[in-house]
Amino acid sequence: MESSRISLRPFKLSDVEDFMSWAGDDRVTRYLRWNTITSREEAFKYLKEVAIPHPWRRSICLDDRSIGYISVKPESGDDRCRAHIGYALGWEYWGQGIVTVALKMALSIVFKEFQDLVRVQALVEVENKGSQRVLEKVGFLKEGLLRKYGFNKGEVRDMFIYGFLSTDPIPD
Ligand SMILES: CC(C)(COP(=O)(O)OP(=O)(O)OC[C@H]1O[C@@H](n2cnc3c(N)ncnc32)[C@H](O)[C@@H]1OP(=O)(O)O)[C@@H](O)C(=O)NCCC(=O)NCCS
Repeated sequence: MESSRISLRPFKLSDVEDFMSWAGDDRVTRYLRWNTITSREEAFKYLKEVAIPHPWRRSICLDDRSIGYISVKPESGDDRCRAHIGYALGWEYWGQGIVTVALKMALSIVFKEFQDLVRVQALVEVENKGSQRVLEKVGFLKEGLLRKYGFNKGEVRDMFIYGFLSTDPIPD
C-alpha cells in the first residue's frame, strides 16, 4: 500500500455509508469498547454525537474514503499529560501496513496539537496479537500486563498496557 493514498481527517456525516461498512462488522469491533453498528440511523447518530464532537478522532482514509478510525483522547486537568489511543480498520484492508502508517501520522500530529501531552497509551487484549504487533512496529513499549483490567463484550479481560512518550522517536 502506498502511504500517499492514506490520510487522516475528521469524520463527516457524508461518511455514513463507508463508516457502516467497517463499523458494522463484528470482526472489526470484537476488541473495541463499542458495539457493532447495526443500522444506518445508528451509524448517523454515532457520527454526529460521538465521532465528530470527539476531541481528536480521525477517519483513516484510503483515497479520502473512510476505512477505519484512530482516536486520541487526552485526560483532563492535571492528567492532560496522558492520552488514550484507539483504532480499527475495515477487515478487507488488514495486513497491508495501513494502521502502522496511520499511527505514525497520528503521533506526529497529536504531540504538536496537545502541547501538554507527554504520553500516549494503549490497552490491548492479550489475544489481540495484530494490535500488539502494530504498536511494537510504531515504537510503543509494552509496559506490563493489567490483570482483569477492562470490561469488553460481556467479560472482564486481561490487557497489556503500551506507552509512547513525546521524546520517543517515531520510526521511518
Ligand atoms: C489490529 C489492526 C488495527 C491492525 O491493522 P493493520 O493495518 O492490519 O496492521 P498492519 O498491517 O500495519 O500490521 C499488522 C501486523 O500484525 C501482524 N499480525 C496480524 N495478526 C496477527 C496474529 N494473529 N499474530 C501475530 N501477528 C499478527 C501482521 O503480520 C503485521 O505484522 P508484520 O508487518 O510484522 O507482518 C486491525 O487488525 C484491526 O482493525 N483490528 C480490529 C480492531 C482492533 O483490534 N483495534 C485495536 C484495539 S486495541
